[in-house]
Amino acid sequence: PLPEPYTVPLPIPPVLKPVSTSGGTDRYEITQRETTAEILPGIRTKLWTYNGVFPGPTIDSRRGRPATVTHRNELPVPTVVHLHGGRTPAASDGYPTDLVLPHDWPTPAAHDHQPPNQSHSHSHSQQHQHAGAHSMADPRAVTSRGTRDYTFPLDQRATMLWYHDHRMDFTAPAVWRGLAGLHIVRDDTEDALGLPRGERELPLMIADRAFAADGSLTYPSLDPSLRDRPGVKGPYAAGVLGDVVLVNGAPWPIHEVDAVRYRLRLLNASNARHYEFQAVTDDGRRLDLVQVGADQGLLAAPVTHTTLPVAPAERYDVVIDFAGLPTGSRVRLINRLGTGRTREVMAFRIARRARDESHIPKRLSDDLPTWRRSEATAVRDFAFRAGEKEHGRSWVIGGRTFDPARTDVRTRLGAVEVWRFVADVHHPVHLHLVGFRVLSRGGRAPLPHDAGLKDTISLRPGESAEIITRFDGYRGRYLFHCHNAEHEDMGMMANLEIT
Ligand code: C2O
Ligand code: CU
Repeated sequence: PLPEPYTVPLPIPPVLKPVSTSGGTDRYEITQRETTAEILPGIRTKLWTYNGVFPGPTIDSRRGRPATVTHRNELPVPTVVHLHGGRTPAASDGYPTDLVLPHDWPTPAAHDHQPPNQSHSHSHSQQHQHAGAHSMADPRAVTSRGTRDYTFPLDQRATMLWYHDHRMDFTAPAVWRGLAGLHIVRDDTEDALGLPRGERELPLMIADRAFAADGSLTYPSLDPSLRDRPGVKGPYAAGVLGDVVLVNGAPWPIHEVDAVRYRLRLLNASNARHYEFQAVTDDGRRLDLVQVGADQGLLAAPVTHTTLPVAPAERYDVVIDFAGLPTGSRVRLINRLGTGRTREVMAFRIARRARDESHIPKRLSDDLPTWRRSEATAVRDFAFRAGEKEHGRSWVIGGRTFDPARTDVRTRLGAVEVWRFVADVHHPVHLHLVGFRVLSRGGRAPLPHDAGLKDTISLRPGESAEIITRFDGYRGRYLFHCHNAEHEDMGMMANLEIT
């Protein structure tokens, strides 16, 4: 039984305490384990979690202060953690074959890459070769049993990152089951701006899910154990959608607010669903969403939106002002792209008048990179399209599905490049390691929501776009891919080698 929208209180994910802060590094421990939680009132749902909660615990870091997170895998499948938007050395970036094996996972031997439950009857299928060859036999794969340390220097602009599973071929179902959490990076400059803070800063992880009558999450995996055969059933190849919108793990929640400004740190953590947010009062008045930050931190100056499109993996940092609204009234955050209940997202109840000391400065930041086309040493083209595979659908970049043994782009540390994308259907394209600026969209100037430094760009159906970036930070093997998680699992990912 689904709850009526706007009856369940908004949870705020717990902030993780470091186990030690000595030596200039914050050390954290996270156990990945199965648990059950009451997501829908009165019924338990089995989840895969970071530390027993969904969303996972929030990590709150200071810019330039490294964090080491020890992940312990007590799930029944291999996992790997990626800090999305993190400027992270390759060894800790969560490459999809750098797996942490469960304690009871059989050791992969040179000529026996069969995971358990492997039936030989389909071992020659395309699907299987994809899984077996890549997840277990890649000679560069770093596999470790049980636990693994990830080190994040966090020498980057203040922003809200998120961490999630990135296992090859199985990212989508693992994230669907709950493997996602927030990681906020702060700095003194941002703190000094006077943006709403404390209880008036709300991290909001928005993700749709589908539930069976017994409360279990439904996902159309070909192999529900997620141990062996990757992929989703045919009709879901375009992406898996749910009919319940969760915010911080609660269905269509409601949150009591003062009649003042709030900072909403929005993340679309859905596998495939796009949103176009609008804030409306119950008597039909629209409230502005004043954007102060993008995926990779503060904008140069605020940008005011009445509707805000947000693709999977994008973050938008917005301020909303409830001043002047009557006590007891309600503001809904709706999704204009939804129908019926997927049009509803969450609501705010104005509980009381209060003093507001916050403000939104006219200048937010002065450190945005301004790369020019004339600096670019390469211009590359990538087409994101549906592909064919022997046994069904795939998704391809430049005609090819992901192969960890192939380098798709090789560039030099420090190089500035222009990348040109074209899409057949909606594809949110994400680059690891770097932030980028949007140069153009559909041959025209970027849209208002393309402002600032991004790490994910939402390509709309049939659209082309150009981005510019500098590949700096670290050398090594990184990725770029579509962040529709089903597209990603079905091959829409490529290797980027920085030398
Ligand atoms: Cu959010 Cu490569 O991922
Ligand atoms: Cu895609």
